Amino acid sequence: MTRRVFRIWRGDKSGGTLQDYTVEVSEGMVVLDAVHQVQATQAPDLACRWNCKAGKCGSCAAEVNGRPRLMCMTRLDTLPANEPITVRPMKTFPIVKDLVTDVSWNYRVNRLIPAFRPRPPDAPDGTWRMSQAEVDRVQEFRKCIECFLCQDTCHVLREHRLMGQEENGMRRELFVGPRFLVRLAALEMHPLDTGDRLGLLKDQFHIGLCNITKCCTEVCPEHIHITDNAIIPLKERVVDRFYDPLMRVVRKLTGADRHKVPLPLAAEDPSVSGTTGSGDE
Ligand code: SF4
Ligand code: SF4
Ligand code: FES
Repeated sequence: MTRRVFRIWRGDKSGGTLQDYTVEVSEGMVVLDAVHQVQATQAPDLACRWNCKAGKCGSCAAEVNGRPRLMCMTRLDTLPANEPITVRPMKTFPIVKDLVTDVSWNYRVNRLIPAFRPRPPDAPDGTWRMSQAEVDRVQEFRKCIECFLCQDTCHVLREHRLMGQEENGMRRELFVGPRFLVRLAALEMHPLDTGDRLGLLKDQFHIGLCNITKCCTEVCPEHIHITDNAIIPLKERVVDRFYDPLMRVVRKLTGADRHKVPLPLAAEDPSVSGTTGSGDE
């Protein structure tokens, strides 16, 4: 047993500070264990969200030593010894209390995305034919656990706050963020889907605001290649469609998009306001 200092953000939407707690730690402990120990022995009112303690529910997302991470998957022995471990709530989303943030903006954005729209079955027995390579390609995107660490780290949301909200009587642009570009990639690249969401990607979801810094990919606990496999191929499709007349002709002649039907926003009211972030002292 050794002792470590945890510097944990305590407060609510009106403000807060970092507070130190000394915790007895043992081999194999993760940050979430330490937070639970603080709750059990020193601060029963410390709020934190968690469910699975196995890196699968995405609930325990926070910022450990300044880096967006899952608390249940961050072992203490991977963090620098002999200095306090800081634990803060995700900065991009509004504070509820202590380490708990309100991530509901993400669910409102999700509702805007037109759902899967499969083509009719290929065979009389109601089954489809598709290549294994096409299936494998979208499988990666299905691993997302909706922890929203990528949303937290993306500077377009974190710093520029382009969340479609009203501010000083003006509506700011909506950037849906890496998590929802992953979902859009899963739909657009699905071998059975007939929906065409490229117009939405360009004009409503503003994929052009992503400048491929790859910060989202670096923090994804599921190791999804968000930029290389989702965002860049989507950007290429948008460029082919709207900015490259030669590719537009080629796609028309080859019938590449013949099954695709342009889709409108799934929800009529794209209001995604109420997104003031917090987490600062
Ligand atoms: S690559 Fe794009 S989506 Fe990912 S963090 Fe950078 S700007 Fe955001
Ligand atoms: S893409 Fe990765 S980081 Fe983003 S919400 Fe999904 S699992 Fe979390
Ligand atoms: S508690 Fe489920 S991912 Fe951490």
